[in-house]
Amino acid sequence: MNACIATIAARAEKLGLEVRGIFRGLQGLVNADTIPIGVELEGLARRGGSFLGTSRNGRLESKLIDMGIEEAMKHCGVDGLIVLGGGGTLEALGKLAIGGAPIIGVPCTIDNDIFGTDYALGFDSAVNKALRAADEIMDTAESLSERVFMIETLGGRAGHMALETAYSAGADAVFVHEVEPGIDAAINKIKTKMDAGGTHGLVVLCENLGLESIARQLEEGTGRRIRITVLGHTLRGGNPTYFDRNLARQFGETAFDLLVSGETEKMVACVGKDIVSVPLEHIAGKKRDLDMHKYDFVNQR
Ligand code: F6P
Repeated sequence: MNACIATIAARAEKLGLEVRGIFRGLQGLVNADTIPIGVELEGLARRGGSFLGTSRNGRLESKLIDMGIEEAMKHCGVDGLIVLGGGGTLEALGKLAIGGAPIIGVPCTIDNDIFGTDYALGFDSAVNKALRAADEIMDTAESLSERVFMIETLGGRAGHMALETAYSAGADAVFVHEVEPGIDAAINKIKTKMDAGGTHGLVVLCENLGLESIARQLEEGTGRRIRITVLGHTLRGGNPTYFDRNLARQFGETAFDLLVSGETEKMVACVGKDIVSVPLEHIAGKKRDLDMHKYDFVNQR
């Protein structure tokens, strides 16, 4: 997100336009907590997250409804908004800003569940971290045999991160919220493989699925020791990958250009190799679908 903000600041400076950063998302918008930002931000571009911070507070949305988005923008001294946020934030803004408000959304979430874009900022960096962890764990798995390793990713209730990690790491099974977990099938698959001389098993699962209970069932079913790694918030930090930084630049440039050309209530999106824009109202109430081909490949291979 820092790379995206720095790109917007650089683009604005070229045109002689002033950019203000709003601290802590909707909280800063409601309270007019802003700071002028410029090209000096470039040094932050390699860092993950956003130096502006964020907020998770459902009450802010109703405050913004009472206030009116145009009024909040006036209060902050801005003529247009570029909002970097997850599905919830972008959807809320889409609902609030009915009638041509100068708002452009940039999809940002490691969960990658926003409808209308193949990628949200942060996802590639998080999956690469999870994959690196899986690779490192496999070094032990191959030398200390007869164990089943479980890796829990973040993702909220979206399985994209767990699935992409499992698919790329060559896991034996993946468990996600979108599909009823096939624990018996996973047990059979891992047991058959290990009985035939395979050194280890690897299972990746999304958070909030009942890790302990699944681990117990796998341990009983396979008769092998289970070792668990919870990756948690490590996945939300660190320097972003090339892909994410490049996408952040492209999203930042496109979002800025859309705003100055008078576009309203759009989200920038990556579809295939193209950077496009979609109306905010089109993403409301929808989620990006899980890739069922990859899910079946991991679990049925
Ligand atoms: O929505 C992004 C996300 O990283 C989820 O994957 C995760 O459940 C959550 O945020 C973690 O944040 P918190 O600590 O606020 O639950």
